Amino acid sequence: MWVLPRYGRAGVDCPPIAGNFGSDDRMTMARAVRSHEVVNIADLRRLAKRRLPRVVFDYIDGGADGEITLRENCRAFEDVIFRPRCAVATTGTDLRVSVLGTQLDLPFLLAPVGSSRLFYPRGESAAARAAGDAGTGYVLSTLSGSRVDEVRGASTGPVWYQLYLLGGREAAAAAVERARAAGCTALVVTIDTPVAGLRERDARNGTRELLSRQPFTMLPHVWQFLARPRWLAGFLADGGLMDFPNVVLPGGRAMPYADVGAALEQSVVSWSDLRWIRELWKGRTVIKGIHTAEDARRAVNEGADAIVVSNHGGRQLDGVSATIRALPEVIAAVGSRTEVLLDGGIRRGGDIVKALCLGARAVLVGRAYAYGLAAGGEAGVARAIAILRADVDRTLKLLGCASISELDSSYVEVPAAWGARVEPTAPRVGLP
Ligand code: GLV
Repeated sequence: MWVLPRYGRAGVDCPPIAGNFGSDDRMTMARAVRSHEVVNIADLRRLAKRRLPRVVFDYIDGGADGEITLRENCRAFEDVIFRPRCAVATTGTDLRVSVLGTQLDLPFLLAPVGSSRLFYPRGESAAARAAGDAGTGYVLSTLSGSRVDEVRGASTGPVWYQLYLLGGREAAAAAVERARAAGCTALVVTIDTPVAGLRERDARNGTRELLSRQPFTMLPHVWQFLARPRWLAGFLADGGLMDFPNVVLPGGRAMPYADVGAALEQSVVSWSDLRWIRELWKGRTVIKGIHTAEDARRAVNEGADAIVVSNHGGRQLDGVSATIRALPEVIAAVGSRTEVLLDGGIRRGGDIVKALCLGARAVLVGRAYAYGLAAGGEAGVARAIAILRADVDRTLKLLGCASISELDSSYVEVPAAWGARVEPTAPRVGLP
């Protein structure tokens, strides 16, 4: 059931979604995400959990190992305290930002999220369309089920392509070429996947077994799909298990869907690959996965046009700092030399404003919109964006600040320890 042959590739030449995943279902979901009971991202998460099989929900929701960093990414925003200016009347607010020379109507873009097509039929196009309609950008993951030209065509906003070196350099070079031809305006290179993080929930839910293509191995885990018939109808109507059409293997075949962990293991990027990628792409390059001042400096010296302070949403090395906590160190190191973006832990517009106060040019939101996508397709993503936009607008007014461009560190206070780093210790070489 999990593994079904596709009946066609999605794209301009692709048939509409078939089967009984009809407009009634879509209307019910759109009503649910627009309900007055959906006031924040946690409400969309609740709806997503209700609609998705556990294995898919946990893929979005989970992190690596003990999920310390996953939790800390969110929690650390609580340590940043606002310092408002009161008795300031701000009628209109200006939420626009400029990122890589492009003006966006909102200070956030939609982050690359792998496997979105499992969350909702043609999930990548639905999300890209909602982003464009809201005046912001969408970043397409290499680990997507929809072709880059199709996704680019779905959006009126900027689309960036996130690159993993899956399938080897030749396949990556071809993907870069297709991204360019499709009109993507930036290439995002993720550098924090030398090996896959251990996503314990995926292991427990039988992800590997479900992808084994062996009926007896899959059988104990299949109940998860049967328990979610509405999701299943959409999944089947969308052609069953997606493959990765942006990774074209030698021989011309799209890479079959694989456990994302296994796929990430094949996609390690080193600084020398980065040089090669930049020469190939020639356009704007964003390096994602920066945790420290040292790597930030290195990325800028290697020619990054922007960097993303990111720990992969707590899905890779568990125990690293929350991104909002790492941001001041990175800004101090390279903030005057490059554009610094941030992702991780953003569930409210107030989180976005805190990151901007601390020097981020804009942020990327991942799970926040993925829950919306899973809850109600394009309508769910639009709802997630609307919630965050309203939050940002309200937060600015409550801060007494009329525009994003006026935000600075005087509007927030961070714990003193955030500035402190442990002095380097002597090398342990030669010690027992
Ligand atoms: C993909 O990048 C993932 O983290 O699952």
